[in-house]
Amino acid sequence: MPDTDAPASPGPQEDVVDLLLAQHAEIERLFLLVIGGTGDTRRDAFDDLVKLLAAHETAEEEVIHPLARTLPGSGGDAMVDERLAEERQAKETLQTLIAGGVDAGGFDTGIVLLRDAVLTHSRYEERYEFPHLRQHVPADRLRSLATAVRAAEATAPTRPHPSAQSAKGNLAAGPALAVVDRVRDAIRKPSKS
Ligand SMILES: [Fe+2]
Ligand SMILES: [Fe+2]
Repeated sequence: MPDTDAPASPGPQEDVVDLLLAQHAEIERLFLLVIGGTGDTRRDAFDDLVKLLAAHETAEEEVIHPLARTLPGSGGDAMVDERLAEERQAKETLQTLIAGGVDAGGFDTGIVLLRDAVLTHSRYEERYEFPHLRQHVPADRLRSLATAVRAAEATAPTRPHPSAQSAKGNLAAGPALAVVDRVRDAIRKPSKS
């Protein structure tokens, strides 16, 4: 399990597994802030959580899971299919929570259920997927993947534009989908360097 106090800033030796582990810790921290927070603190933490989850899971879908399918001893397709199914389920729950907003009845229950599902999913990745990447993928490739994922995520907006929020101040689904699109495009675009 990652150290939640570990800095999330990139170092020269950071590889894509380091980056994803740091994001798992940050996702857990944001869930705590949403669940324990009130008012604007809660709303802002939920905004940040939605965007980080969108960027993180998109990077895993585009880069990590396809790579894991090719590795020996990782459980291959069956393991990856399970992770993808968990991600799909989490996305559906998240869209429901986004649509209702943080003040909706049912949000408190839904966010706890989503937290439990997402953290379990993260633990499975850490146990059954990431170790095989470290074992079978060359270190310099894992480091360049970290750079690619960071660059892709840097193109995503950090906060939704106020006009993207509904009259009730609830986060619309649009910004989360924009993050997915931008990260996906940036990862798929061939590197210019
Ligand atoms: Fe994932
Ligand atoms: Fe993950």
